[in-house]
Amino acid sequence: MPSMADHPVQDENAQGVYRVIEAIRRGESVDPALHPEMESLEGVIDIDAFNLYYSQARALFDVSMAIPKGKVTALIGPSGCGKSTLLRSINRMNDLIAGVRVEGNMSLNGSPIYAPHVDVIGLRKRLGMVFQKPNPFPMSIYENVVYPLRIDGENRKSVLDEACERALRSAAIWDEAKDRLKQSALGMSGGQQQRLCIARAVVADPDVLLLDEPCSALDPIATLRIEELIQEIAERYTVLIVTHNMQQAMRVSDYTAFMYLGRLVEYGPTSGIFRRPILTETEEYVTGRFG
Ligand SMILES: Nc1ncnc2c1ncn2[C@@H]1O[C@H](COP(=O)(O)OP(=O)(O)OP(=O)(O)O)[C@@H](O)[C@H]1O
Ligand SMILES: [Mg+2]
Repeated sequence: MPSMADHPVQDENAQGVYRVIEAIRRGESVDPALHPEMESLEGVIDIDAFNLYYSQARALFDVSMAIPKGKVTALIGPSGCGKSTLLRSINRMNDLIAGVRVEGNMSLNGSPIYAPHVDVIGLRKRLGMVFQKPNPFPMSIYENVVYPLRIDGENRKSVLDEACERALRSAAIWDEAKDRLKQSALGMSGGQQQRLCIARAVVADPDVLLLDEPCSALDPIATLRIEELIQEIAERYTVLIVTHNMQQAMRVSDYTAFMYLGRLVEYGPTSGIFRRPILTETEEYVTGRFG
C-alpha cells in the first residue's frame, strides 16, 4: 500500500484544507496515509479491499489494513464512519443483519473469514467481543462466565470452575466476584458487569478481543479500571478497540486507525497519529477541532 509523506503539509495546515476528507466527501477513492512502521508488521487479522453494503447503502469502502498481533489497536473516527461495522465484520456478526453484502477479504491468522466453508460459530469463538453496554445474561455470575464453554458442550465441574476463576482473574473481577459466584450478575455495578463481560469474552481463550466502546456507559473510575485491564489483557491477546475518547486511545493503544465515511484515512503507531499525523484532518480530529 502506498505511504505518504511523514508530516502534514504546512500550507494545508495554515488554510485548514481537508484535502483527503473533501475528496472522500466527493466520493473519490483515496489511499490511506499509512505510517511506514505499518508496512513490516505481522497481522493477526488481515483486511483486504473490504467493502460492506447495508442493502443499497455502502458502509465500508475498500478497507485494507492489518491488525498487529499481540498489540492494542484503536479504531477512531466520527460517528457513523463505520467503526462498529468493521468490528462486526471481523466476527461476521453482520451476517445476522438482513440485506448485508460484503466484498473483499479478511483473514484471521491466515485463514479466510469469508470463505464458503468457514465455520462461523468456531470463528466467533476465536474472536471475543464486548459491546458498549454491559450485557450480562440473566443468570449467575458463574454461569455467565462459563456460558461459552457450556454451549460448546463442556460440563465437567472441575474444568468449568478452573476456567471461571482464570477468566475472572484475567478480567480483574475475581476478588469482587469470588464470594457471590452463585448470585445474579444483574446485581453487579455497571463497571463490574463490563469486567464480567470481558471475562466471558476471554474464557474460551480467543485470539482477538473486539471491544466496541467498552467504557462509554461507565463512570471515570470504572473506565480507568477497564483501561488498566485492557493493557493487562494485551499481554496475552490482540485487542481491537473502538473508542470516541482520544485520551483513551492514547492511553491504551499501540496503533490507531482513523476512519472517515467508511474509509480508512490514516493508520499508524498511536504516538505517531497523535504527535506527528500525516494528514491535517487526522490532527484536527484527534485534537477535537474536526468531526
Ligand atoms: N444495521 C444497519 N442497517 C443499516 N445501516 C446501518 C446499520 N448499522 C450501521 N448502519 C450504517 O452504517 C454506517 C456506519 O455505521 P457504524 O455503526 O458502523 O458507525 P460507527 O463508526 O460505529 O458510529 P458510532 O461512533 O456512532 O458508533 C452508518 O451510516 C450507519 O447508519
Ligand atoms: Mg459504533
